[in-house]
Amino acid sequence: MKPYYADDTVTLYHGDSREILPILDLQPDCIVTDPPYGETSLEWDRWPDGWPTVAAKLTSSMWCFGSMRMFLDRRDEFAGWKLSQDVVWRKNVAGFQPGDRFNRIHEHALHFYRGAWGSIHHTPPRVPAVRRRAGDLIGRAANEPGVTGARGASFQVSDGLAYHPSVVDASISRTVSQHPTEKPVRLLDPLIRYACPPGGLVLDLFGGSGSTADAARMSGRRAVLIEANEGYCEAIADRLAQGVLPMGEVA
Ligand SMILES: C[S@@+](CC[C@H](N)C(=O)[O-])C[C@H]1O[C@@H](n2cnc3c(N)ncnc32)[C@H](O)[C@@H]1O
Repeated sequence: MKPYYADDTVTLYHGDSREILPILDLQPDCIVTDPPYGETSLEWDRWPDGWPTVAAKLTSSMWCFGSMRMFLDRRDEFAGWKLSQDVVWRKNVAGFQPGDRFNRIHEHALHFYRGAWGSIHHTPPRVPAVRRRAGDLIGRAANEPGVTGARGASFQVSDGLAYHPSVVDASISRTVSQHPTEKPVRLLDPLIRYACPPGGLVLDLFGGSGSTADAARMSGRRAVLIEANEGYCEAIADRLAQGVLPMGEVA
């Protein structure tokens, strides 16, 4: 199948990932993806039935974004996957606000796997730690350049490094965002480093703005993306053709 865009590290296909993946000979190290949750009136926000089963035929490791409601409503579709952990993305701006619930400023990324845990690549990324008081090492604040973290949380530490916290503060840029549900590269980076070895291949079934591809290439991984909307494919191709961009996030 002819890619919509390809360079040394990223290949993008236009179409329905459930139809395209069976005809590609892919063996990704992991999936990092953000499906339509089916929770908004956005034209493309319709749950693609069966995609977790298609994904399970390709790899044994997957990060999937979603709300708790989405995961609970669709739990039968994830039956072939085991849950290893969840990470919370704390946003800098609220998303969809129905007006009758808490102001929602977070999303979940769940890590699923299949088979034996020992056979799954999982390298928890580490962040620099600072000594706050004697004998107590604390991860640096999230707003330091190049470092994500949870303010004030304490982590297990070795050699001056702390395990990356499970709450990630990462900002959405209003100036460069091309997509209503764009994920920040800074959020995707630790997920990719965790589940994909350097030089490995990351698959995203729902490409959106192309953030997964940007994060993968910035961390020395390769990526295959599939996106059903041609307008978004064009935006991804434009983004990738500009080379590695600064993360462009606002504080
Ligand atoms: C939640 S958004 C992904 C946003 C992306 N993570 C980002 O950072 O920009 C989901 C995307 O999946 C696309 N999509 C929906 N159904 C699809 C399908 N069956 N195959 C491929 N892409 C699909 C939508 O057009 C939308 O851009």
